[in-house]
Amino acid sequence: MKKYFAALIIALLPSLGFAAGGVEYPLDKVDIDLADKAALQDGARTFANYCMGCHSAQYQRYERVANDLGIPHEVMLENLVFTGAKIGEHMKIGMRPSEAKAWFGAAPPDLTLVARVRGTDWLYTYLRTFYDDPARPMGANNMVFPNVGMPNVLVALQGRQYIGCKQVQVVEDGKKQFDPLTGTPITHEACDQLTIEAKTGTLSTEEFDTKIQNLVTFLAYSANPVKLKSQRIGTYVLLYLCFFFVFAYLLKREYWKDVH
Ligand code: HEC
Repeated sequence: MKKYFAALIIALLPSLGFAAGGVEYPLDKVDIDLADKAALQDGARTFANYCMGCHSAQYQRYERVANDLGIPHEVMLENLVFTGAKIGEHMKIGMRPSEAKAWFGAAPPDLTLVARVRGTDWLYTYLRTFYDDPARPMGANNMVFPNVGMPNVLVALQGRQYIGCKQVQVVEDGKKQFDPLTGTPITHEACDQLTIEAKTGTLSTEEFDTKIQNLVTFLAYSANPVKLKSQRIGTYVLLYLCFFFVFAYLLKREYWKDVH
């Protein structure tokens, strides 16, 4: 009994950890399609260019990623490997955790499995909710990870985001409210809204969201690279079972013919 109780406490710990953070920022939902090779390739490119300066994916090999995502080895080495590593090596980085800790106050964790730990909706929201905060050492803060040590590394793409006042549509009982006479949305001013300063990023909001969706797709793949394969094998197994059933049934009929 004691053992079960201990197991229960351990199982509940992560939720307690998150609950301790106070009011939680609502997570945006993201659709992940692990079969979308173009999305995976774009995500891998973003990961190599914008994340691997600080984060490793050291349980993964470049070669495996290249093969799974349909990237030729030369293209992979030329465009996605900046450490001089060979194709068969793990995706490690040069930065030492102790140095990183001194610079950012926290060491950037390895990201191979982060999609399993945090979930894809969390990642999608986290990567889109960095905002200017002069009170922080790196000048940036985050909505879902308050006082994060990571700088806003995607600011050149997304543009500068800050918390400001914006007209937002009134929602009651989960329904957006419209003026019954004119049909126009009913709005009110809210001053806790993330707002992107116009013309400070190279991508539009939609383009940036797609970029992050692709990046999260890549992280989801990285956390479970055999998922695609197991789904395919699962389908074959089910087909085989259906097929086998027919023959098993015919055989049974044959055996029992004389018994009845
Ligand atoms: C300049 C260094 C740097 C770069 C570049 C960087 N990060 Fe980070 N990241 C950090 C640090 C430092 C932390 C630890 C933050 C903390 O614990 O306060 C972190 C934390 C994270 C976390 C939270 C991990 C967890 O579960 O606690 C995620 C997810 C993450 N980074 C993803 C990314 C992605 C994706 C990119 C590329 C777009 C990226 N990071 C680029 C420094 C960096």
